[in-house]
Parts: sequence; C-alpha cells; structure tokens
Amino acid sequence: MMKLHKYLEKNSFGLLLGIIAVVSVGGLVEITPLFYIDNTIEEVEGMRPYSPLELEGRNIYVREGCYTCHSQMVRPLRDEVERYGHYSLAAESMYDRPFQWGSKRTGPDLARVGGKYSDEWHKLHMEDPRAVVPESIMPPYRFLSKRELNYQRIEADLKANQKLGVPYTDEMVAKAFEDITNQLDEDADDYDGFVARYPKAVVRDFDGNPGLVSEMDALIAYMQMLGTLVDFDAYEAKKDENLR
Ligand code: HEC
Repeated sequence: MMKLHKYLEKNSFGLLLGIIAVVSVGGLVEITPLFYIDNTIEEVEGMRPYSPLELEGRNIYVREGCYTCHSQMVRPLRDEVERYGHYSLAAESMYDRPFQWGSKRTGPDLARVGGKYSDEWHKLHMEDPRAVVPESIMPPYRFLSKRELNYQRIEADLKANQKLGVPYTDEMVAKAFEDITNQLDEDADDYDGFVARYPKAVVRDFDGNPGLVSEMDALIAYMQMLGTLVDFDAYEAKKDENLR
C-alpha cells in the first residue's frame, strides 16, 4: 500500500488514472440509482397530472421567469417547514417538465401557495404587487388580465407530456381544449367529467371576468393548486404505519 502511494506521489499520470478510477466509482454510486427512477420516487396518493388550464398557467410561469425569484421546494429544515408547511416530496414534482424547484428566493417559496390567498388577492398582487404588499419588490404583470389565453396547442402540449411519461389518458388529450373552459365555469355541462379527470381541481372563473379566458385565469388556476394535491395528514399516518 505504501509502495503504491509513493508511486502515485511521484508519477502524475498514475495519480491521474487513480483519481479517474476513484471518481468513477463515486459517480456510479450516485448516478446508477437514477436509472431506476421508479424506485427512487415513492408513490404518494393524490398526485395527478396538471389540468389543461393549470398547465397553461405553468407555461406562463415559465415564460415570465417567475422561477428566477421563486423556488418551489420546501426543504426539510425546521424554519422552512414552520414557514411554508410540510417539506416537499419528490412525487410532488414528478409531472413537472421541466421541474420548477428553482435556486433563488428573492420572493418566498411557492410550493404550497395554493389556497393561501383569494383569487382577488392574486389578481391585485399580480397587477400591482405594492397595492397589497407595500414593501414588495416584485414587478407588476398587469397585461396578464387583458391578454386572451392562446390555448390552440393545448392538445399537443398534453400529448408531448404523455410521450414523456405523464399519465394523461387519451380521453384527457381529446378533451383538453374544452377542459380549459370547463375549469372556468361551475355550470359547465361536463362539470362531473372534468372533476373526475382532475380530482381536487378548483373550478371557477379566476380573474373575475367571465367574458374573457385570460392569461391571468390560467396563472391563478396554477397558483391555487400548488401544494394542494397531497393530503399530508394521511401521508404522515401512512408513514408512521410503515415505520411500525
Ligand atoms: C424580481 C423578483 C420576482 C419576480 C420575477 C416574481 N416575483 Fe413573486 N414575489 C417577489 C417578492 C419579493 C415577493 C414577496 C413580496 C410580495 O408578496 O409581493 C413575491 C411574492 C409573490 C407571491 C406571494 C407569496 C406568498 O406566499 O406570500 C406570489 C403568489 C408570487 N410572488 C407569484 C409570482 C409569479 C406568478 C411571478 C411570475 C409571473 C412572480 N411572482 C415573479 C419577487 C418576484
């Protein structure tokens, strides 16, 4: 052993080979489990793919770069859990392509913002953040209420996600276009069908302007569902049971 060490200290090429060998083993140990991703994400009840309107809202979130100021991952640390709620589970972002964990928090984490505020609050805040939070440095996004949502390609969007492994059914894909407006109207003919396809989806007109399917509608629908799918009391109870 000492001999080998002496050799490596004096021979840089040998040292290089040694480093490559050691780093490769470390790399394999980290990377190989990810090929069995099915095993690394525990199944959690309640997770479902995004509804078409939520997906459009998510696309706007990505387009506007909200992730440059907001993370969507509550870390398992006491201060985070006390502020935002239960720490994030891998399963909660399993249908996110790409994921929105983020690496910067100029604003607060949004992983559990669903249901925290009213739609009116979100609309006001998005149009003029300082109207509701005087010290806010968030930029305004006034145009979102006025801009009509262009969802011509929603069916293709669902199909692309389907190809990537998100479990959208063929029925969901076929109804994607109508489901945008189904989610905005509690009196829609296919209300029951919609809620069966997307359990726990919030159905209502989000921007207070039923005459227009706006980008604001989509973004608020997305905000209001974040972190609401998993029932954490049931999750914790099941975890305790498994540990016993
Ligand atoms: C330049 C950084 C920045 C950008 C970009 C940004 N925000 Fe914010 N956001 C903030 C800050 C700072 C706060 C905290 C003050 C406040 O509530 O306005 C905040 C607060 C929020 C809140 C309230 C969170 C809570 O729990 O109180 C929501 C919701 C939100 N932002 C959504 C968005 C969305 C959606 C976008 C993209 C359209 C966006 N933000 C873009 C900085 C930003």
